[in-house]
Amino acid sequence: MSRQFNSSLTAAYRSHVCGALRAENVGDRVKLSGWVQNWRDHGGVVFIDLRDRYGLTQVVFNPENAPEAHKLAHTLRGEFVIQVEGEVVHRPEGTVNANMATGEIEVLVAQIKILNKAETPPFSIDETSEVGENVRLQYRYLDLRRQPLQEAMIARHRVTKLIRDYLDRHSFLEIETPVLTKSTPEGARDYLVPSRTNPGSFFALPQSPQLFKQLLMVAGFDRYFQIVKCFRDEDLRADRQPEFTQIDMELAFVEQDDIINLVEGMIALIFKEINDFDSELPYPRISYQEALDKYGLDAPDIRFEMELIDLCQVFAGTAFKVFRSVLDKKGIIKGLNLKGGASLSRKEIDDLLEVVKIYGAKGLAWIKVNEDGWQSPIVKFFEESEITALGQAMAAEAGDLLLFVADKPEITNEALGRLRLHLGEKMGLIDKDELAFCWVIDFPMFAWDEQEKRHTAIHHPFTAPLDEDLDKLDTEPLAVKAKAYDLVLNGVEVGGGSIRIHDPKVQSKVFSLLKIGAEEAREKFGFLLDALSFGAPPHGGIAFGLDRLMMLLLQRQSIREVIAFPKTQKATCLLSGAPNTVNPRQLRDLAIKKA
Ligand code: AMO
Ligand code: AMP
Repeated sequence: MSRQFNSSLTAAYRSHVCGALRAENVGDRVKLSGWVQNWRDHGGVVFIDLRDRYGLTQVVFNPENAPEAHKLAHTLRGEFVIQVEGEVVHRPEGTVNANMATGEIEVLVAQIKILNKAETPPFSIDETSEVGENVRLQYRYLDLRRQPLQEAMIARHRVTKLIRDYLDRHSFLEIETPVLTKSTPEGARDYLVPSRTNPGSFFALPQSPQLFKQLLMVAGFDRYFQIVKCFRDEDLRADRQPEFTQIDMELAFVEQDDIINLVEGMIALIFKEINDFDSELPYPRISYQEALDKYGLDAPDIRFEMELIDLCQVFAGTAFKVFRSVLDKKGIIKGLNLKGGASLSRKEIDDLLEVVKIYGAKGLAWIKVNEDGWQSPIVKFFEESEITALGQAMAAEAGDLLLFVADKPEITNEALGRLRLHLGEKMGLIDKDELAFCWVIDFPMFAWDEQEKRHTAIHHPFTAPLDEDLDKLDTEPLAVKAKAYDLVLNGVEVGGGSIRIHDPKVQSKVFSLLKIGAEEAREKFGFLLDALSFGAPPHGGIAFGLDRLMMLLLQRQSIREVIAFPKTQKATCLLSGAPNTVNPRQLRDLAIKKA
């Protein structure tokens, strides 16, 4: 679709684009404009692949046919911008290129115009060879000429168009919300913008349009969406950028299932159109608790099994000091059974210890299940009955490697959950072509922050509790579950949302559990609380990370590979040099530096 060219408004420069000509055009007089991709001289005849975003066409300069053009062709270099005019001819027998859309024809040039020269680029445009990422980022406009980013930008356009069309069909309105605004409660650090006209005051760039989209519900726009930039000053990873794009939605008069059903249809459509992938709907739903129990993480990769096994029962009476002391301190013991892992060397097992250490685990105990018995530094501490129970719990068979972590629940789960992913990659357990979606639901409302001695919101402070858990807000807040849901794909959280609180009594109870005082609540989001008091309909929403979706759709390693102008891991732009220092006058104007 997007590789096709609508030529209805073509002017002087071209009659066709470089990917368009076919055998049926033979005999046509055509005009093409584009970049010189490469240059070959075969026995005095010059061949050039001319490139634009639609493809390549071979153009031929024959000295007998057009001596002037042929002479100029010798002055051309890679990435010069040229315009050629000539006749489409069949390629001679034996030179047809079946791998090229235009491979049956070539253009015999009669006239050429050099539209612009080019410096020698720092890397070659036609090869997909490895180029250092910093160079690619510095010359991003050249990197964007290359195939992988061309494909990514085209696919990204197609996806946003599919989304707009799908949501339009479902009565959504696209409405813009402010970028210069007040901080939104998404929990990351804000990017701040000083106000010149109000010295000492700052705008925050939105971490999401959360508050404004709720206001739009109060305003009666019962289905809103926006494809919108969000800003979060957090530590970056392969799937995080300081500015990223959300597909942000909010709906009124809906429950959780309505939202899930509606957006599932949209996601399935995108993966069908772009990847020809048939989703089986509905996507599976896993409770937060089950995700932690089985996979150790709240964004589980369900492309492979190897689930975590709880061993607290097996070792309830153990005398093995390491396990005993952990259990006595309310810690937990869990294990993984790596099938066929008994063949790993000591060195390889030591490397696994390094993986769990990153996540705070103090050790990684192991047992090799060999044909002639168990080999392990810890089995000598176990009773016969423990060995039997352990073998059963882990369904141990000859050839297995059993791995254990004992620690606080959070550390045990995360360390083993990450180790599971590491082993999945290392041992080739993951089918790279599979797309495994799941919803994670029934999140807890709150976590306990030991340092600050208060509850914190797992999603955000406007997320509604499950109806059946409302009573527990007073008695057992940590047991209250939320109407919150995340969509996870191959272990990556691609979207998340919730049903919001629209009852002021519930809202103030939640604020008090979060130790957000009336004054602080007023100061931070008084305008939302006011709005909610003027007849807020029941409402909820969700936001997807467009960059993450594109990364997974196109099987790229990082979201930087699907963003036109991304930032580095240190949140800098190598192309423009941002962020940079500014002149002292600007700082004085902003009242940041004294005059
Ligand atoms: P949340 O904070 O879960 O929810 O964000 C929604 C989705 O945005 C993507 N995302 C990111 N992508 C790239 N870089 C980042 N730094 C980054 N941070 C988040 C993720 C995530 O699932 N207002 C709520 C949504 C709602 O409740 O309606 C929100 O922002 O894919
Ligand atoms: P140690 O008594 O510290 O020498 O540990 C004995 C074995 O238990 C070693 O194989 C350690 O790697 C392992 N181990 C130590 N701490 C833990 C832990 N928290 N979880 C799992 N295994 C551990």
